[in-house]
Amino acid sequence: MSDKLKNIITEASKVFILTDENVAPFWLPEVAHWLHCDSAVDIVIKAGEQHKNLQTVQRIWKTLMNHQADRNALLINLGGGVITDLGGFAASTYKRGIKFINIPTTLLAMVDAAIGGKTGIDFGGSKNQIGTFAEAEEVIIDLVFLETLPERELFSGMAEMMKCGFITDAKLLEINLENYQQFIVRCGEIKREIVAQDPTEKGLRKILNFGHTLGHAIESHCLTTDYPLLHGEAVALGMLGALWLSVKQLGLEESILQNFENQLPMLLSEAEIALSETDIDLILGYLVHDKKNKGEKSQFVLLKTVGNPVWNVEVESDLVKQALAYIINKVSRG
Ligand SMILES: NC(=O)c1ccc[n+]([C@@H]2O[C@H](COP(=O)([O-])OP(=O)(O)OC[C@H]3O[C@@H](n4cnc5c(N)ncnc54)[C@H](O)[C@@H]3O)[C@@H](O)[C@H]2O)c1
Repeated sequence: MSDKLKNIITEASKVFILTDENVAPFWLPEVAHWLHCDSAVDIVIKAGEQHKNLQTVQRIWKTLMNHQADRNALLINLGGGVITDLGGFAASTYKRGIKFINIPTTLLAMVDAAIGGKTGIDFGGSKNQIGTFAEAEEVIIDLVFLETLPERELFSGMAEMMKCGFITDAKLLEINLENYQQFIVRCGEIKREIVAQDPTEKGLRKILNFGHTLGHAIESHCLTTDYPLLHGEAVALGMLGALWLSVKQLGLEESILQNFENQLPMLLSEAEIALSETDIDLILGYLVHDKKNKGEKSQFVLLKTVGNPVWNVEVESDLVKQALAYIINKVSRG
């Protein structure tokens, strides 16, 4: 344990550990012991995106209050991106902000969600509508947690790592199940470098949303069906749409799109996808709530070349519809 971490924990008036029901049996006692926090108050919530909401945050706030947490309390978020988003939000709003530490246990959270200070919850049926910018005091990355992570979740994280590749470094596009661990540190560094230049997403940071405009809309829509997609799976579909739009609108080389299409079956190998063209209008409905849009226009991050993204690209709604039809045609198994 680093001295900084030791100090944060010993200086806290009370320590709380937030985790979910899947992570707790594997890792909660171990982590509490490792951090010398055996007397911490555990908050174990149900797992899954559908619990990243205000009700869960209220439960966290209530537990903090019931245990007289003051401004010097510490919340340790042990879990995937749902836990780090939720816990970061609950901590940054409780008594106008208490300290929190992120210990990501999914690949996706290690390379993306736990880093960079965006916290939030889903609201009104749309993703991440309510949130704050608040930095964790520490983010502790330990690959040991991946030993218990289901393979489908690994693919979901690999999709976000490929996003890093598209916007900065073509090498990351060679990722697969055998080599992904060697790229984890690089992806985290890329995110930190981008966030350091634009912490509150006024410009450059928007490139981290590559694939997320359509991805979030598809994810929100699928959450209302019997076939929810994991975040990274939805982002993979969103990247397919963004690459197709990049070819149409910015002249991206078509081979980049084709290469990604060859990798999609791997990223989606465990996803159950039940999208059809009748879903297009429903998915478009979610774009209106997308924070990346200005007014009625859809704004995208698109690529001129790999490593050369452009943000705030306005795309006509007809072309967006065509992109969704393209995605659905590629992945429908019927
Ligand atoms: N704040 C950001 O910058 C940012 C960036 C990207 C994604 N996100 C958010 O992150 C969320 C997705 O994160 P996620 O993919 O980590 O999902 P998640 O937190 O739902 O975790 C995925 C699943 O794996 C389980 N799990 C976690 N760690 C495990 C382990 N070590 N062993 C066994 N099971 C484990 C969880 O219980 C859950 O069922 C989304 O809500 C997304 O919006 C936020």
